[in-house]
Amino acid sequence: MDFTKKMLRDNALADKVIVVTGGGSGLGKAMTKYFMELGAKVAITSRDLEKLKNTAKELETETGGICLPLQCDVRHYDQVEAMLQATLKEFGKVDVLLNNAAGNFIAPTERLSANAFDTIIDIVLKGSKNCTLAFGKHWIDSKQESSTILNIVTTYAWTGSAYVVPSATAKAGVLAMTRSLAVEWAKYGIRSNAIAPGPFPTKGAWDRLLPGDLAEKFDMAKKVPLKRVGDHQELANLAAYLVSDFSAYMNGEVVTIDGGEWLKGAGQFNLLEAIPEEMWDHLEALIKAKKNK
Ligand code: HXC
Ligand code: NAP
Repeated sequence: MDFTKKMLRDNALADKVIVVTGGGSGLGKAMTKYFMELGAKVAITSRDLEKLKNTAKELETETGGICLPLQCDVRHYDQVEAMLQATLKEFGKVDVLLNNAAGNFIAPTERLSANAFDTIIDIVLKGSKNCTLAFGKHWIDSKQESSTILNIVTTYAWTGSAYVVPSATAKAGVLAMTRSLAVEWAKYGIRSNAIAPGPFPTKGAWDRLLPGDLAEKFDMAKKVPLKRVGDHQELANLAAYLVSDFSAYMNGEVVTIDGGEWLKGAGQFNLLEAIPEEMWDHLEALIKAKKNK
């Protein structure tokens, strides 16, 4: 047994209908595949219908499950409502909204145009808000007994991060929405949780955040105490648990899955890891000598 293995029992999501925004690529695709393997019917949405159709076909062949590709730019509320209606028409209900779609690039903030900043805020914060509001209104109006929102944020949602300021600002808003609605909408049977992934290699993120030879210069694995990047199945295992009924008492939580990366950056003395083992005897002697004076 290792971390690349599948965690939940067969058919753990058998009666679930799940919408994954940005489900045509990267982590959204990996989570969709596992949800399908566990028996869920999944609608994947993004701007690129051709990509979605190819992904749906590929995953249906691989898993024997059902995947519905739906074009929807999450920035536009009318498109989100149409995507919800198309899902309901095809599957008769929807149980889970997974807000995974995102946009991001690295840039010094002063170089950003107002439109560049807006673009990221619109995809990440406004897009998650659009989907959450449309699905929430539907669940409340239809008196659905239970439903779940799962938001993919990042660890810099609470620390902030230089050079990705629009993304950090937007993800912080999504985290605030997660926690706020966990309380407000619990009375309607709607749970809200989030996952904060550390580095998980995907083409979408790596091309934009580590362009050119940056990927070689900044080896992400070196920043992680566990000395490796994440495996997509690890994230899929966590996501499947959080959208399943096994996590029915989890609400308002943000689960970090980053090998300890953000804490390594936070602890004041974590840099002392650079001190070789053999030097500690010498340092201890120096400290004790001071004490005895
Ligand atoms: C400065 C930039 C820029 C850059 C775009 N812009 N790229 N400014 N530096 N590198 C500006 C443009 O000039 C324009 O402003 C505005 O942003 C909108 O650009 P468009 O290309 O017209 O936008 P659009 O076609 O909507 O594309 C959106 C996008 C793109 C975000 C720019 O990268 C995209 O589609 N991304 C989707 C996938 C993605 O980003 N995945 C990564 C998620 S990773 P002007 O003023 O000129 O009009 C992630 C991981 C976090 O979130 C943590 C990892 C460890
Ligand atoms: P990705 O493959 O680029 O995924 C982003 C997805 O969002 C794409 O499928 C894209 O599809 C979709 N999207 C972008 N703009 C959209 C819009 N306006 N409307 C609808 N869909 C849109 O990158 P990823 O690494 O898998 O990222 C997935 C999630 O994980 C994101 O929320 C990201 O912030 C988060 N995350 C990733 C990492 C990591 O290391 N990979 C770390 C922390 C957090 P289209 O282009 O077809 O629209």
